[in-house]
Order: sequence, then C-alpha cells, then structure tokens
Amino acid sequence: MATQWWQSAVVYQVYPRSFQDSNGDGIGDLPGITRRLAYIKHLGADVVWLNPIYPSPGVDNGYDVSDYYEINPEFGTMADFEELLATAHLKKLKVMLDMVLNHSSDQHPWFVESARNRDNRYADYYIWRDPVDGHEPNNWGAEFGGSAWTYVASRKQYYLHSFAPEQPDFNWENPHLRRALYDMLNFWVAKGVDGFRFDVINMISKPQDFRTKRSTPAGRFDPIGQYVANGPRLNEFLQELNAQVLSGHQLITVGEMPGVTTTLACDYAGLHRRELNMVFEFEHMNLDGNADAALGKWSDQRVALPALKRCLSKWQTGLADRAWNSLYWNNHDQPRIVSRFGDERPVYRQRSAKMLATMLHFLQGTPYIYAGEELAMTNAHFTKLSDYQDLDSLNRYHQLVEQERRVSAATMLRYLGRQSRDNARTPMQWDASANAGFTTGTPWLKVNPNYLRINAQKAQTTPGSILSYYQRLIKLRHQLPVITTGNYRLLLAEDPAVYAYLRSNHQQHLLVICNFTAATQTRHFSELPATATLLISNYDDDRGDVLRAYEAKVYQF
Ligand code: GLC
Ligand code: CA
Repeated sequence: MATQWWQSAVVYQVYPRSFQDSNGDGIGDLPGITRRLAYIKHLGADVVWLNPIYPSPGVDNGYDVSDYYEINPEFGTMADFEELLATAHLKKLKVMLDMVLNHSSDQHPWFVESARNRDNRYADYYIWRDPVDGHEPNNWGAEFGGSAWTYVASRKQYYLHSFAPEQPDFNWENPHLRRALYDMLNFWVAKGVDGFRFDVINMISKPQDFRTKRSTPAGRFDPIGQYVANGPRLNEFLQELNAQVLSGHQLITVGEMPGVTTTLACDYAGLHRRELNMVFEFEHMNLDGNADAALGKWSDQRVALPALKRCLSKWQTGLADRAWNSLYWNNHDQPRIVSRFGDERPVYRQRSAKMLATMLHFLQGTPYIYAGEELAMTNAHFTKLSDYQDLDSLNRYHQLVEQERRVSAATMLRYLGRQSRDNARTPMQWDASANAGFTTGTPWLKVNPNYLRINAQKAQTTPGSILSYYQRLIKLRHQLPVITTGNYRLLLAEDPAVYAYLRSNHQQHLLVICNFTAATQTRHFSELPATATLLISNYDDDRGDVLRAYEAKVYQF
C-alpha cells in the first residue's frame, strides 16, 4: 500500500475544557481553541483531535453524550465550531472529532424513551435484561466501579453500562441503532471534519450470552473489559461503519481499544482491510500498575525499562507492514509522562522529557502529542481529595479506601497523585499571568502552581526549550521517510538503563539512543559507522559512548 497522509502526520490532542477559556467562565471553549490554532500550527502538528464537544451532563466530562448533532453550550455554538474548522483548514490543519459510539448519556432522548417501556421505537437501542433471581443478570463490574447493571423500575429490567450508570451501552445488535449512528457520523463528515477518534470502539460487540464466568463474593464484581473487548461481531461492525461512512473519504480514523492484541490489531487496523486506519492501545500504559491486581492502575510503581522495551518492540514488529499503530505517552486518561517515566525535578525535567519524546517519535506509527506535553507539563500534585474532579478517581477512592478498606487514605492519595486522570486535565499553561493565561475567571480544575516556571510563552522565548525540540521532531518526521516506513530493530533488549534501536530502509539508517536514568552510562554501539552524523540530541555536544543523565541522541548514516 502506498503511504497514506496520516502515516506521516502528527496529531495534537486538545482537551477542550482545559485548553483556553475565552469568556471567563473558567471552562475552555471552542473560540479559545480557534484563537490557539496558530500555536498548534507553529508547533508543526497536522491534525487536531478534540475530545467530545457535544452536549453532555458532564458525568464523565463529555463522554456521556446527550446530543450527537450539537455543540455543548459550555464550549460554544455550532457557528463557533464551523469557525474553528474553517480557521483550521485555512491553516492546513485537520480536525478530528471524538466519537463515543459504545454508549450515550442516560439523558440522551433515545435512552429516556428506551427506559420508558419495552415497546417503543428505541426500546432495543440499549442492552436490557431481565433480573435473574431478583438480581443483576451477571456479576460484571463497570470500569468506574460497582455493578455494570442498573435497574429501571418502569421496564422491570436492568440495562448494561460498561462505565458509569449514566453511560448506558448501545445495543449494536440492533441495525436501526447502527444506521442512526452512521447517519450521525455522515452529518459530521458532510460538515467537513477530517477524521474520528472512536472511543472504546472495541467494546461495542457484546457476547450475547452475558454469562458469569467466575463467581465473586456478594458486592464484588468481575471487571467487564475482559468480556466485552474484541467481541464476536466487532470486525463486521467496523467493516459496516467503514462502508457506510468512511470509505471514499481521506479521513484519519483511530480506534481506542483497551485490551487489543497485536494479532487483532492486524485486523482492526490492517493496511489492506477496510476497518480503521490505526489502533490506540494501552499495553505500555499498563506496565506500572499495582502488583495487587485488585488495585489495578492505582499504584506508585515505576516502570521497568526492559518490560517497556519488550512491549513497544512487540507492537513495532507485530504490526510492521501489516497494520498501523498510534504512538503516545499521554492523553486525557493518563498522568503526565515526565512525572511518570521521566524526572520532573527542575534540573532534569526538560532533559528527561526530551529523551522520552525522542524515544517515541522515531518509532513507526502516528504520534499523538497531548496538550502541554510539548512544555513538559507535570502531574498536578493535588494534596486533598477535594481537589480531584474525575469520577474514576473519586469512585475508586470511595471503593478502595472506604468500602473495601484495601488501602489507607494516605496511600490512595499518593496513588491518585501518580495515576489520576486529573493529572492530565489541569489547565494548559500559556504564560505567567493569573491562572496561567487559561482563564480570567475561576478555572474548573486547579491550575498547576508550577505555571510560573512552566508555560508556553517562556518555552517560546527560550532557545533550546522542550517546545522547540518537539518542533524539530515533528519536522524530522515530515522530512525523513525512514521514520514512517523504515523497519525497526531493538538493541540491548535487557539493558535496564538504555533504550536503543535502529530504523532502516534502503537509503538510510537511524540509531536512536536514550539513557532513561539520571546516572552516566557508557555504551558502545558497533553498529555505528565512522561516517554517521548526529541528527538530533538533547545535549549541545556529543561524548560518544558516554551517555549523560537522560541523554538522547539519534545518528543517521
Ligand atoms: C475512554 C475515554 C475516557 C472515558 C471512557 C468512557 O477511555 O478516553 O476518558 O472515560 O472512554 O467513555
Ligand atoms: Ca468558557
């Protein structure tokens, strides 16, 4: 297959609530984003991905959509969106919308109708089951805690929700529901959007037996993900979606797919299949979870480098020439990477963030940069539970500390400090003025006080800043085909301190060397010919085999 435009593109992810407020209500909005498109263009990104912008009661910050055809009034109007899109297109930036097709809000008119009784037009748009022995149909547990089933008296039935009770799952078995979703997607394609990010799209096809596989004690549940991920009709649904919406357009499409494997990704994002362009998978984000499986991601473990290498290398080689992956360190669901895999101490913050960026941006795939990552923004460092707003964090605190008493309050606060999604959601740090230039009002989530030190304006005016380093990485991807199409070979697989790999095509080789520690390391690379030249580095000079703290360098030959 000839190289597609989205294979050498770089995506910049904007969390609309936290990017730029334009009217002083403390909530980021579309006119604010439009104003900042010049910044994204200057960075060099090709595509802007917006997290959901539709009307929503906001139980899960917009991932509970109550109207797929409109704009959340908190963010602006349809005219504001059209202006954003037109401005982006003038700047040759593409815009990618976030589509939540696994579930809607319980306030969506379809669900309101569906819940009313068993024989209306929308009765079968969601997944309803009769009680079993007066209880939930099975012991599946929702991703945000509690049972995955909620009872509705008017139907005398339970409905399924993979996430919060306010996020009922659609019944994709119903062709009318599917048609309605395709029509809606076509509405946005007709409006001129350039692509879609499909939220948890590999959860849409449910195994229809809804069985309890492992029993759990009363009040405890078996996590739903393992049951509903990669379901029996998923390929069929993706192919239908492709035929009804995507085919014939040059869109960028990415499927968020927790629990996808490299083998399955070759189907969902196979280069020769008509499903989606690429997957967005989580394996490398799950390597620092708690040794106690019951605690899941709530942990303060650091990732072990050989495990990270094994994981990323498996995806590099598993998909090579067959399918396409996304490359990311950050998004709105993950803590800040410099705090997580890097070193946020002031002497090392930019250096280690550049090292992590180097490691990721020379891999094969489409890189995603999450707003603020290019400034090496850090975790929030909230000290009180009341600073958090994310329902996942609050629910889990309640469950693990108060209900199940598995961890102490202090331990859980430490875990939240490392892993909470709110770490990524603090407002964008634009400058050193009040509230980091994000809002003139009271921000919906606290601004990180380190904005005086870490902000875009400072980065833009400081030579050698992390921001300028990201600009160079993006430019290199656009210039050197080997980054998009070259093959990948891992070196030093078991080395606990250094991540090194080769990218090669017929014309060119790149050797990427990254020191993941603050200690000096010495490594010799016999692969490196005397003619090799340094392409990019996060230090001003090259000391050959000696790798200083968090040193990253790339040679070409
Ligand atoms: C995805 C989103 C996340 C949301 C969940 C439910 O994982 O990225 O933010 O909470 O789906 O829609
Ligand atoms: Ca606003």
